[in-house]
Amino acid sequence: MASVDLVIRNARILDGTGAALREGDVAVVGGRINAVGAVGDVDAATTIDAAGAVLSPGFVDVHTHDDGALLRHPDLAFKLSQGCTSLVVGNCGFSAAPAVPGERDPSKLLGVTATWSDLTGYAAAVAGARPACNAVALVGHNTVRRLVLGLERRAPTAAELDRMRAEVRLAMAQGACGFSTGLIYEPGRYSETDELIVLAREAAEAGGLYATHLRNEGDRLLDAVEEALTIGREAGLPVQISHHKSAGARNWGKVGASLERIDRANAEGLDVTADVYPYTAGSGPMAQYFNLDRLDPDLAAVIRFASCPALRELEGRNCVDVAAEWAVPPTEVIRRVLTAERGADTICIQVIIDEADVETNLRHPRMMVGSDGIVDLGGRPHPRLFGTFPRVLGHYVRERNVLGLADAVRRMTSLSCDRFGLVDRGRVVEGAWADLVLFDDATIADRATYDEPKRESDGIRLVCVNGEIAYRDGAHTGVGAGRMLMFSPR
Ligand code: ZN
Ligand code: CU
Repeated sequence: MASVDLVIRNARILDGTGAALREGDVAVVGGRINAVGAVGDVDAATTIDAAGAVLSPGFVDVHTHDDGALLRHPDLAFKLSQGCTSLVVGNCGFSAAPAVPGERDPSKLLGVTATWSDLTGYAAAVAGARPACNAVALVGHNTVRRLVLGLERRAPTAAELDRMRAEVRLAMAQGACGFSTGLIYEPGRYSETDELIVLAREAAEAGGLYATHLRNEGDRLLDAVEEALTIGREAGLPVQISHHKSAGARNWGKVGASLERIDRANAEGLDVTADVYPYTAGSGPMAQYFNLDRLDPDLAAVIRFASCPALRELEGRNCVDVAAEWAVPPTEVIRRVLTAERGADTICIQVIIDEADVETNLRHPRMMVGSDGIVDLGGRPHPRLFGTFPRVLGHYVRERNVLGLADAVRRMTSLSCDRFGLVDRGRVVEGAWADLVLFDDATIADRATYDEPKRESDGIRLVCVNGEIAYRDGAHTGVGAGRMLMFSPR
């Protein structure tokens, strides 16, 4: 009798390609899928009866800020409990590498002090932490620009641009899957399109992609999409529009026009995809969204505090409620928080997105899922950190019927792996790495809310990473089988 490490029997298999469910078994040997279909008598170290639950490739969170969490929280409970097995880090222009050893991440997003200078050093640190999930890295423009120019509000000199190019080239040579920007953030917003084209060419030469938090997601969304397309065209590489949205009530509905533009670009020969998180609120470092000289009252009115080291009692509260209690306008609350000691470390949640736009995004066949979760487990993070993938499958697939189950899984698995160069992952086929999730499609649901954001989801029965059982029936096994993946162009 053949012997295998693991066999999962009586599953309804979704192979990740978008093909329909089919019943069968999956056997795993040496971290890889060894057989799919009817697996006969085998001598298995572990046998799992799926009892009709859905077995699919593990989900890929294509938009994360888990660069620091891979080291600080290597159990990655908030990702594993959603069925995620691989993470793309380095988004929004902020990456852990390159860095100055001994310096704390200046972005306020990653929460980690570098012991490395480049991606190879960072990857070694991650490997040493034995993370629960796999990860692949983007190299971030904000990070590279800050390293070379600090927060200077000007174009780089020729010598500075050369240094930035060299950093991007080195990261790509060390396994980065592309170049990311966050053009609303410091210092990325001081850059012109030409600078970005030059840097994106370095990623293009290595076969990587351009992932962008657009320069504007509100009044000038369409101009910002145009800039991203220009960079894709001029630098010659695929474009990923991060957390696609139209922000602010007066802009709601614009995602339709933006997606039409993206469709047209694809028809014209560019290669453009996007990702979305299934919530109507964003989240990020509050200091980046406000100008203290003219605080935006509309934005202040929709702010909620996630992490607030300056005033912990504000965590989980809405700015307008605090303003009423303090008998001051909401903008004054923002001012007091931002000017307090450690005020710059505040992470806020901003309710700025239309529900109908979330559904429009999720319907699009080139739309992936990315949580954009920000990992500060001490505060009250946006619930997307814990709930994103089960929320798509429970709320938007089962309850709202916005997209089909097989298509949703395709866009959480094979599409994402193909896009970000994760080879031999994202499909339930013989020979692929055994990154797998077993879930109950009738009960899968997110339980994390804005008030209770750290609740793990329902309906995830089993998660395997590289063939090892990492999560089973609500329990984290702590195996730490994740790897830092090196990008391979397809
Ligand atoms: Zn972003
Ligand atoms: Cu982001």
